[in-house]
Amino acid sequence: PPVISSTAPMAHLTQLMSFASASNNTRVIGSAGFTSTVNYVKSQLTASGWTVTTQSFTTRGKTATNVIAEWPYGDATHVIMAGAHSDSVAAGPGINDNGSGVAALLANAAAISQSALRPAKRIRFGFWGAEEQGDVGSSYYVSHLAGGEAKKIDAYLNFDMVGNKAENGKAVGWSLYVEGQSNGLNAPFKSYFSAKGITVNASLDTDDRSDHAAFKNAGVKVTGVSSVRSLNELGACYHKACDNLSDVDSNSVTLASNAIANAVWSLAG
Ligand code: PHE
Ligand code: ZN
Ligand code: ZN
Ligand code: ZN
Repeated sequence: PPVISSTAPMAHLTQLMSFASASNNTRVIGSAGFTSTVNYVKSQLTASGWTVTTQSFTTRGKTATNVIAEWPYGDATHVIMAGAHSDSVAAGPGINDNGSGVAALLANAAAISQSALRPAKRIRFGFWGAEEQGDVGSSYYVSHLAGGEAKKIDAYLNFDMVGNKAENGKAVGWSLYVEGQSNGLNAPFKSYFSAKGITVNASLDTDDRSDHAAFKNAGVKVTGVSSVRSLNELGACYHKACDNLSDVDSNSVTLASNAIANAVWSLAG
């Protein structure tokens, strides 16, 4: 895959921060910050030739939206899917949680387009609404798949918080989900991190607290990458007003973007 520089993911994060700044420092579902995020994600993907659909649903009296994007090449009966939640909590702008995952996937969508990639398998990205209300958007997507569609998804890769900084004298806690140990999906990520000389813990137990859970429950093979060491060390600004651009290390979100590119290229063939 081409090397993704820090420019693309950081430009996306700057945009997401501007949407939060115009919306009382939040991108929570029901806010202008969330609507602007959804519109931005849609327009970025459409501009680079992805086929984009949206799905709206209601939770706790608020409407939220999933954006689903497909790179329209490759065998549609073998889908490599990746996803990130696009909403924040009410308390803050959610630039690490989870602007970082959104930015990494958008940078990958552009790289796939710029490379005119013609993969063997189909590549599909999901940008989920209402993760912060309990994985609502991803659950809605999985439960509304037409019969047989879940079986066509060969892998689902989740990216929630990939921009952490070193904190409290500890290096960034790069982690792979425990689910990927037994299904082979951690392998491309492990080889990427080890080639970079970066230590990665390959047994993060997420307690199903993100959007891979719905896919796993539907029998899809899942894993994910995060820059958190554990659910007890999510960062000083986690779910706080200070989860802004200063809460993200550009090296982390760039490293994650390239790790994703490496895995998607290898899994999609
Ligand atoms: N999903 C949680 C949140 O958005 C935190 C989390 C991050 C869980 C990474 C698993 C992996 O608040
Ligand atoms: Zn397959
Ligand atoms: Zn969160
Ligand atoms: Zn999150």
